[in-house]
Amino acid sequence: MTIRLDVTGMLRRAVPSGVTPEALTALAPRLAAAHDGLLADAARGILGFRELEAQAAERERMLAWARVAASGCDDVVVLGIGGSALGAVALRTALLPRDWNARTAAQRGGRPRLHVLDNVDPRSVRGVLELVDPTRARFLVISKSGSTAETMSQYLLVRERLRVAGVPARDAIAFVTDPAKGVLRRIAAAEGIPTFEVPPNVGGRFSVLTPVGLLPAALLGMDVAGLVAGAVAMRDRCATGAFRENPALAFAALQWRAQTEAGQGLHVLMPYSDAYRDLAPWFVQLWAESLGKRRPDGTHVGPTPIVAVGATDQHAQVQLFMEGPVDKTVTFLEVEEPDGGELRIPEVGAAGPEELAYLGGHGFAELLRAEGRATAGALATMGRPTMTLRVTRADAWHLGGLFMFFELATIYAGQLYGVDPLDQPGVELGKQLTYYQFGHPAWGAMQATWDALPAADPDWLL
Ligand code: PA5
Repeated sequence: MTIRLDVTGMLRRAVPSGVTPEALTALAPRLAAAHDGLLADAARGILGFRELEAQAAERERMLAWARVAASGCDDVVVLGIGGSALGAVALRTALLPRDWNARTAAQRGGRPRLHVLDNVDPRSVRGVLELVDPTRARFLVISKSGSTAETMSQYLLVRERLRVAGVPARDAIAFVTDPAKGVLRRIAAAEGIPTFEVPPNVGGRFSVLTPVGLLPAALLGMDVAGLVAGAVAMRDRCATGAFRENPALAFAALQWRAQTEAGQGLHVLMPYSDAYRDLAPWFVQLWAESLGKRRPDGTHVGPTPIVAVGATDQHAQVQLFMEGPVDKTVTFLEVEEPDGGELRIPEVGAAGPEELAYLGGHGFAELLRAEGRATAGALATMGRPTMTLRVTRADAWHLGGLFMFFELATIYAGQLYGVDPLDQPGVELGKQLTYYQFGHPAWGAMQATWDALPAADPDWLL
């Protein structure tokens, strides 16, 4: 069981814009300071995503509830968005077979299907709710703030569907929210709805290892203990401010340096693994919402994360990565042991076709790995920097470790970019203008802002 970060492709001996050993030595005090900054934040109690031991009691309470709630349940529906949804999607894709929701109950061993309603497009909301029998479903309303319009509108619809079906809300709904604040707490108290905590010191995009991600995981029978153990092992491994000893710090440092010194601010995460393909959008939200910021001095900073999937995107984005601007880093995610074992490509035999004979006898996983390494090599020949995260397999332990790896890296990157990775002031105005359009009483003051927006000009309607 290992997670290794191979940074060779980021070095000067691999690509002209790469980092030299001397530059890494010169960076050492800066990296040590970034680690000290993380430790100071941890001491202030604001990095709750690291405090997995302190959350053990709530996790046990959640697991005990999930054991009972999973019986007689055909569907688990997550109502949530952003950090309250992307973790569940990454967990589902990594730890359940790809066609899980299409399997019969017997094929699923009696475990439920998992749906994640992470948008308010009626096509998807209606589509999922039409599939689900409300008398045999669990609806998880996941919102740290308990006020997000998308999630609350879904909640109102589900509440109405349950009322029509004659199902008491407390039998079908559970909340995951702040321990004290927000409207969900008040509803829970009034209606007896089971409720689990997002610790106050864990923000949405850092919350996958709280009940935000672990409650859906538990209801689906995933290995919650393995997820936590993998995360703890990674956290403990990243315990010093030394580049070579702390892979999360090394990742953050190389990405930050690539942007600030080599103009490579587009950070691609490219899993060569279908199990980990939805880890990439989870990472994108974490990296983008945490690091894209206006600094106290008024400058705008931050990388732009990009999702790619190997080998699929070799036939879509790799042309751009190879010959487009030299403004990207590509991080590959390689899995050593394929899920379910290797799958052989048959020999073509004497009847041919001879042109395909080179494939016969090899394995699909072997081909996938070869394609990843070929792409990394090809990018290096064009001077494009790459890193590779190499993990033994796609299971709970490794996924937990990867979640923690990227979360820690984000905090380190926040230190290096000089921004607060835990806030997201830039999303507020859009929310307020939405509330204003819906006549939310608190946002009447938005009228002047709304009126000052550039009005659509019919002359420019093409
Ligand atoms: O990372 C974040 O803080 C956001 O993406 C939130 O997760 C998202 O806005 C949903 O917020 P909430 O959980 O309060 O409904």
